[in-house]
Amino acid sequence: MNADTPLQLLGGLTAAEFLRDYWQRKPLLVRQAIPDFESPLSADELAGLSLEESMESRIVLEHGKTPWEMRRGPFQEEDYQHLPEQDWTLLVQAVDQFVPEVAQLLEQFRFLPSWRIDDVMISYAAPGGGVGPHFDNYDVFLLQGHGRRRWKVGQMCSSDSPLREHADLRILADFEQSDEWVLEPGDMLYLPPRLAHYGIAEDECMTYSIGFRAPSAAEVLTHFTDFLGQFLSDEERYTDAGLQPVGDDPHQIQRDALERLQGLIQEHMSDERLLLTWFGQFMTEPRYPELVAGEEIPEEELFGALEDGALLVRNPSARLAWSEIDIGLVLFASGQSVLLPGQLKELLKLVCSADALHLENLGQWLADDDARKLLAELVKQGSLEFADE
Ligand code: SIN
Ligand code: CO
Repeated sequence: MNADTPLQLLGGLTAAEFLRDYWQRKPLLVRQAIPDFESPLSADELAGLSLEESMESRIVLEHGKTPWEMRRGPFQEEDYQHLPEQDWTLLVQAVDQFVPEVAQLLEQFRFLPSWRIDDVMISYAAPGGGVGPHFDNYDVFLLQGHGRRRWKVGQMCSSDSPLREHADLRILADFEQSDEWVLEPGDMLYLPPRLAHYGIAEDECMTYSIGFRAPSAAEVLTHFTDFLGQFLSDEERYTDAGLQPVGDDPHQIQRDALERLQGLIQEHMSDERLLLTWFGQFMTEPRYPELVAGEEIPEEELFGALEDGALLVRNPSARLAWSEIDIGLVLFASGQSVLLPGQLKELLKLVCSADALHLENLGQWLADDDARKLLAELVKQGSLEFADE
């Protein structure tokens, strides 16, 4: 994608301009980001999804049994019969993994690294509904799907920002409004992380939240060091050959001990290949790993089916990414990684981006042993699967 092409989705800004001026910095309102956008899902269909065991859903009632009561799904049909006329919201997470038309929306966000995308959450709100003033630690694009919603934005927050006492929701005690807009279907609001915001349904409405993910520093450090630890032997220890005499007090930890420790840490932390391996695996870990379960199909059967016109598609729950290193390519697939020869680069790009893999676009790859092995492995692992007829 050319970073210098003006994008309707960004109100005519180019990706380069958006990244320079807005991404992670300040909000951007785009009228008609997706002109004539019609929600691919109706409110009833969204409520239907919230009845399913595999979906993560919540209902927030401003005036429930307690103020801002939160109920967790899966819900029953009758739960919906007892809801008030107004001031409640249903939120369903990761709808993109279950509804292909919703996943399709993500194609418009390819100007950002795909491994930064978390999910598409869809909310339905009765008039007046919302989840209260809050902030998120992630970037989000709020696309209005149906009806109108008033969005108010406020101050930049941090973990020190005072919250209301609430068991489940992080509602801000203070909201210092700086702007507000009413969004109509197709309008979109980008919010950087930690910006206070508050959406209130003007009438019945649906909002699509295209949410991003970024590991916390604590996650990076704890997960990466756990990962590194697997490669270190028990014999490798703090060593102090050449130790200087203890001086006047043996209880003192001397500066040279810290330097030895720093040396040990740096030696391992600066291993770029391991850092990349860990990061790629971590960022491609599926949200629902149990949904990425493949099957071992004998090679003749697998490639026979492709020859006969079958389509291989990415499992909607799978996450894929790839990278180039000095000794070849690394493919990250749903939390696993594999080192591959450099000549598979175009195949990796195809596997990560094509709507489907088939005889035509695979072409010569089907005669390449490394390529066949990779495709068979991805099917076995569950990241690729045959499309339903
Ligand atoms: C909503 O869609 O109601 C909430 C989205 C958000 O504020 O993050
Ligand atoms: Co939010």
